[in-house]
Amino acid sequence: MAIHAAQQEGVLHLTIHRPEKKNALTLAMYDALSEALEAATDEAAVRAVLLSGAEGCFTSGNDLADFMQHPPTDENSPVFRFLRVISTFPKPIVAAVQGPAIGIGTTMLLHCDLIFAAPSARFQMPFVSLGLCPEAASSLLLPRLVGHPRAAEWLLLGNPFDAHEAEEAHLINEVLSDDNVQAYALRQAETLAALPPASVRLTKALLKQHPKAAIEETMRAEAQHFAERLTSPEAAEAFTAFFEKRPPDFSRFT
Ligand code: COA
Repeated sequence: MAIHAAQQEGVLHLTIHRPEKKNALTLAMYDALSEALEAATDEAAVRAVLLSGAEGCFTSGNDLADFMQHPPTDENSPVFRFLRVISTFPKPIVAAVQGPAIGIGTTMLLHCDLIFAAPSARFQMPFVSLGLCPEAASSLLLPRLVGHPRAAEWLLLGNPFDAHEAEEAHLINEVLSDDNVQAYALRQAETLAALPPASVRLTKALLKQHPKAAIEETMRAEAQHFAERLTSPEAAEAFTAFFEKRPPDFSRFT
């Protein structure tokens, strides 16, 4: 199983564990994450979640081969189900980011509550260069959080950025050394787990209440476009180029 789950002291620690593919997320992994979060919703002993990736890598995002073979067709597809589950999860989620956090590896952070990243972290949302479009309500949440100019650099150009830029843009809480980031994030999750749980859940819900309906609506619209884009010739060229380890050529498209 490529999602490892360990529970201790009120904290459910979910680790994305597929290091040979830079923790790229398959359909089965999305389902495993959704099921773990759904179970944690009802499990009183879980008061906070810690999310991280194995072996110095958060995640390289959607598994491109899996996506080509089994493109999501509707909002119940594993990737969109996961986004719905993480965006409505009622308990706090703390993320510890090291290494690549690509595509959904960056956008899922918009639905976490506290995010700590190491200098090795490399964030990128290369949806356009893959012939795709934003997901996870990032087209709504990112410009609100970091302003339109930077959101356009990150979503249109797909520019990569590091942990210091992410901190400066208020995407993450703090930059910590690669040696410390996991332990520090765990301590924050343990602190949250020791606080009055109903008050923690209520405060999270209050913090998230205003964009809630807009997030759902945006996610639905993005998912429809994203699913269509995945079967487009532009995406086929981008994905094929990735696996052929060559630059893509979009010159023939209008
Ligand atoms: N989907 C499927 N396979 C992936 C993958 C992904 N998203 N990311 C990495 N892999 C695979 C590579 O194909 C490679 O497989 P191989 O050993 O069989 O050739 C292996 O993981 C290691 O990746 P590699 O590219 O050699 O590692 P790197 O350290 O040079 O680069 C990344 C790491 C994450 C920067 C790079 O792999 C990358 O850009 N991945 C694609 C990211 C992406 O576009 N995600 C989708 C966003 S929607």
